[in-house]
Amino acid sequence: MKNNKQQEQLFICKPCGYVMKESELTDVCPACGLPRKVFEQYKERMSPGRSKILRLDLHPIAVHFPQTMLVFLMQALILNLFFPNFYPDVLLGTATFSAVVFPFAVLGAFLSGLIDGKLRFKSVTTPILVKKIIYSVVMFAVSVVIPFIVWNGIHHLSTKLWLLVCGSIALFCAIMLGHAGKRLMNIGMGGAVKVWGWKI
Ligand code: HEM
Repeated sequence: MKNNKQQEQLFICKPCGYVMKESELTDVCPACGLPRKVFEQYKERMSPGRSKILRLDLHPIAVHFPQTMLVFLMQALILNLFFPNFYPDVLLGTATFSAVVFPFAVLGAFLSGLIDGKLRFKSVTTPILVKKIIYSVVMFAVSVVIPFIVWNGIHHLSTKLWLLVCGSIALFCAIMLGHAGKRLMNIGMGGAVKVWGWKI
């Protein structure tokens, strides 16, 4: 029974590239809506272990945490600068919380990215991944500085302006990381990969 499930055929929608299990096929492609006849059999090139871990989408999920914290931080600060009497405690509290959590969220995205890159391309020293590592290091360095700036007292105008400068640098890195990452989605080398001597 388990063996049957493991060997279940995969099908790909030829026009849009959406991949589904045979048992999940419906009358139309759930992604593009074209009829079932456009599907053809799909052969997974990666080893089952690798594709299983990649299908958990750890990195695409993890990247949303730093992005959310950054948006909270910037939005709360900008609103507070333009409307100082509009819920100041709530906005500055939100900015402080986001600033403190931000480095942990960036670290999570960074580490999950390294795992994703290694599993997909068997190495993290490829040209696009090296570019991503550089932007990640810059983003992480800025994210570590941000809580120290907040420490100075978030009510000061100079603190808010420094936070906006650091936030803008982090936002630029996040955009560059997203652009580079988007091009790597749904691709990867075939076969198995060795991670810390462990073949998957
Ligand atoms: C703070 C650090 C990082 C951020 C914010 C980030 C952001 C992103 C984003 C937004 C995407 C597109 C995912 C989507 O739209 O769902 C992505 C994909 C990707 N990133 Fe990153 N990235 C980071 C670090 C890294 C690192 C260090 C690597 C590897 C060296 C990496 C490798 C990848 C790969 C391989 C993909 C394609 C993922 C997939 O389809 O599962 N990322 N990244």
